[in-house]
Amino acid sequence: MVFLVLGGSGFIGSNFIYELLKHRHKIIVFDKNIATIKHEHLHYVKGNIHPSICLKNLIKKSDIIVHAFSSINPTTSIKQYKKGYLFDIKTSVEIFNLAAKLKRRVIYLSSGGTVYGEQKTYPVSETTSFGHLTNHYAIVKATIDRTAIMFKEKQGADILIARISNPFGGYLNCTSGAGFIDVAIKRAVSKLPIIVYGDGNTIRDYIDVKDVCALLYKMSMYKGKKYIFNISSGYGTTQNEIIKIIRDNIKNVSVNHLPFRSIDLKCSILDNTLIKKVFSYHPSKIDSLVISRIKQLKANEVKYSD
Ligand SMILES: NC(=O)c1ccc[n+]([C@@H]2O[C@H](COP(=O)([O-])OP(=O)(O)OC[C@H]3O[C@@H](n4cnc5c(N)ncnc54)[C@H](O)[C@@H]3O)[C@@H](O)[C@H]2O)c1
Repeated sequence: MVFLVLGGSGFIGSNFIYELLKHRHKIIVFDKNIATIKHEHLHYVKGNIHPSICLKNLIKKSDIIVHAFSSINPTTSIKQYKKGYLFDIKTSVEIFNLAAKLKRRVIYLSSGGTVYGEQKTYPVSETTSFGHLTNHYAIVKATIDRTAIMFKEKQGADILIARISNPFGGYLNCTSGAGFIDVAIKRAVSKLPIIVYGDGNTIRDYIDVKDVCALLYKMSMYKGKKYIFNISSGYGTTQNEIIKIIRDNIKNVSVNHLPFRSIDLKCSILDNTLIKKVFSYHPSKIDSLVISRIKQLKANEVKYSD
């Protein structure tokens, strides 16, 4: 099969490339950056993803399109929100439209960590209505998510939505303002204080990015009727708990508390009953995942500077 990975040079995209190579698929990455991964089955197209003949031709050449790009994240969307509204939404509509016409499957990487917004109870399931959203990124991701559902329902498009919680692991761009665990470990290893916005009791549903990619692959091959999947570990961990694991494994770790940011949710935990049942998923414990990530980052002698 040929996979077109839009945004394939990014954090999740790069990890997903490894998953696809394991299964011996051909891959086209369309991204404005070219990643360091090289393989005979991997072909890069460098450029700006926008509605164009090039995009149409790449979709025609592919069996499955993985929508893994975003111009913004929660932090950058404070200033760069226009990119999300004017570019990401418009381009996504065109991708869904072309894929529907050409009868290609699309896997849309939605943000389970933001689109459900503020909720009264956790964990939230795939059928939970979106609550109050706290940043422009969340609104853009939720709009594309709802648009994908509409294409599925009205155009009969073959679109599956992966609502991913808070992934961590290799290939994360730690300067992007996203990814608490990796940034915290890298700062601790580099003897810089870990930055925490608020008192550290913010709860997130962290998941190993390798698990995310294995699940995305299973979604790509899925033949059943469900089309929205929470991709998560299903349990919440506070930032203070993460810091304790780091402190138990790295000496002299300091923490700098800054005021809580209104763009951040206080809690995010996604119900993962569906992926456990459909894809036989068994999440690992956070302690062992963080300890193994510390070992990897120490071995690679990661240096981090402000
Ligand atoms: N990282 C997370 O915590 C997380 C969680 C849930 C969902 N997601 C979603 O998963 C997807 C991938 O996230 P990520 O963390 O890998 O992001 P990332 O920023 O690491 O990667 C995105 C990639 O898209 C490329 N890109 C962006 N706009 C482009 C454009 N106009 N033209 C060409 N290339 C472009 C970038 O160069 C980059 O390589 C995004 O849609 C994101 O919203 C991410």
